[in-house]
Amino acid sequence: MYHPNYLEKVKKEVIALDKTQTNQSVAHRLDHILRVLSWAKLISAELVGNDEKVNLEILQIAVWLHDVRQPYNEKKSLHVQGSVVKSREILESIGYPKEKIKRVLEVISQHSSEVVNSPETIEAKILYDADKLDGFGAIGLARVFTLCGQQGISIVDAVEWYKQKIAKAKPLLQTSIAKKIVEENEKYIDSFFKQFEKEQEFLKAI
Ligand SMILES: [Fe+2]
Ligand SMILES: [Fe+2]
Repeated sequence: MYHPNYLEKVKKEVIALDKTQTNQSVAHRLDHILRVLSWAKLISAELVGNDEKVNLEILQIAVWLHDVRQPYNEKKSLHVQGSVVKSREILESIGYPKEKIKRVLEVISQHSSEVVNSPETIEAKILYDADKLDGFGAIGLARVFTLCGQQGISIVDAVEWYKQKIAKAKPLLQTSIAKKIVEENEKYIDSFFKQFEKEQEFLKAI
């Protein structure tokens, strides 16, 4: 059964936290959640069209909560556990059924390429891919520079980190639609890398 009230309550909590958590990574705030939500809707529509059963309530609640605790000054791999703990607290406080809390937390715990815990359920696969789609392309690049700026990381190190990040995340993509979109957006990223190197080489030669 679908309980829209729970989703509304979760949204309210996340929007309130977004305004008060000043150490939250700038790349993992409300705008990221809303984009991941759009990607998740797109992937779900494709999978449902292929006769897969997706629990939209579990999926949407997991999307809203998946990065609820991601301080910019903490190790990235720690954010999954931090978000799971905070999500449990929020879900218990709104009286979300225990069995469903377990399912949502499982989806959240499997969303990151930083943690070895591959997505098992269809909802976890969708969140994994939707989250990664916000990392591949012009928006993904912009997010890297805002986060690295917040962390005081140089542009050269930011680009290097991003290269490693996408190399790790891409082979773990779960759905064919996400793979297709990533292939397309990668052309843009590659041309950015090439131009970045070209400008550096040019400057070195002066
Ligand atoms: Fe995350
Ligand atoms: Fe995320």
